[in-house]
Amino acid sequence: MNSMADLRAFPYPFGDSDVYRYSNNAIPLDPPNPIELTDSYFDEISLKRELLTKHPERCYHSAPHTLDAQWEVVDLIIDNLVTHYPDRFELEKKDDEWVFSNVQTNENITFTFGDSTSLKIEPLDFIGRHVQEDLLLMMQRDGNLFLDAGQLCFPANWSLYFDAGMSFKEIHSPIPGFKDQSLDDRILQFLMRIEAGSPWWRKNWSLLAGNRLDTSLETFADWGQARKRVTKENAGELVHLRVEVQKLFRLPKSNGILFTIHSHMLPLEKFVQHPPWLEKFYSILDELPDFIAGYKGISLYRKQVLEYLEEEMRKR
Ligand code: HEM
Repeated sequence: MNSMADLRAFPYPFGDSDVYRYSNNAIPLDPPNPIELTDSYFDEISLKRELLTKHPERCYHSAPHTLDAQWEVVDLIIDNLVTHYPDRFELEKKDDEWVFSNVQTNENITFTFGDSTSLKIEPLDFIGRHVQEDLLLMMQRDGNLFLDAGQLCFPANWSLYFDAGMSFKEIHSPIPGFKDQSLDDRILQFLMRIEAGSPWWRKNWSLLAGNRLDTSLETFADWGQARKRVTKENAGELVHLRVEVQKLFRLPKSNGILFTIHSHMLPLEKFVQHPPWLEKFYSILDELPDFIAGYKGISLYRKQVLEYLEEEMRKR
């Protein structure tokens, strides 16, 4: 893909404001598609499958009571794939006997919908291997949401193994300032009111020194050190803007919530080719409070990135 196409496809995460703060920035999702396929489809699902094989305990978790909800996820995603990408995915249904075909990987999978013994792996694990998104399942009970299942290969510095079974507020407790003005509670209440057929989405952003999608907490030693190598000279190539497109779907039967995360990365040297983005991002990064920069892991090299952006602004 050429540079302009990269830029056009990139989900620019900042709205009109010159400052960034934590907020409930979710908006209605229209059209209501859980899945997007990009040019990296094949590479990313290959990487996902490799990680799932080598590190199942890190990349997959499920509690037994989530199986019905997992089937709802399979239904939702397959329906989306065959509707929006009919030349890449096919489905033949005879009552509950389904044959799902992934044209690109040349796979035909036959199963009985709703019968987990008809698949070699759990339904959520199965369908997650055909999409670039990470898939997390939050189950609702006792006025709360719990992370009861998930397939997670591309986490931005967190651990599914550690967070498994946690409530929404427990999961978000490491984020400084997230409880201020009861933001965590307001977001939880919002999530519990999400209705089937009316999904929502938001974007989250961060910087990464390097271009790894698998930045799990467990492998921090392999990728965290690159932060120390960032200089004004190498920032354009080394540092990437990492954006997560996150979507939220109510599952009508189980009342669970499917949370999909599609992680996109763009090296700063490409990002700065669009001058309005460059200037806006400079202001945001310059103004970003220390507690947010610290949490996002940017503090060690924020100065170097700002110097790089300044120089790029001078050139234009
Ligand atoms: C319901 C499904 C959700 C799950 C499973 C989830 C999970 C997570 C996790 C695991 C983290 C990293 C925490 C850590 O450092 O250990 C995180 C960060 C965060 N989450 Fe969520 N989240 C969800 C929904 C939301 C929603 C709806 C919002 C806001 C409207 C939100 C806002 C945030 C923010 C602001 C951060 C900090 C990100 C950063 O600064 O880079 N989350 N979330």
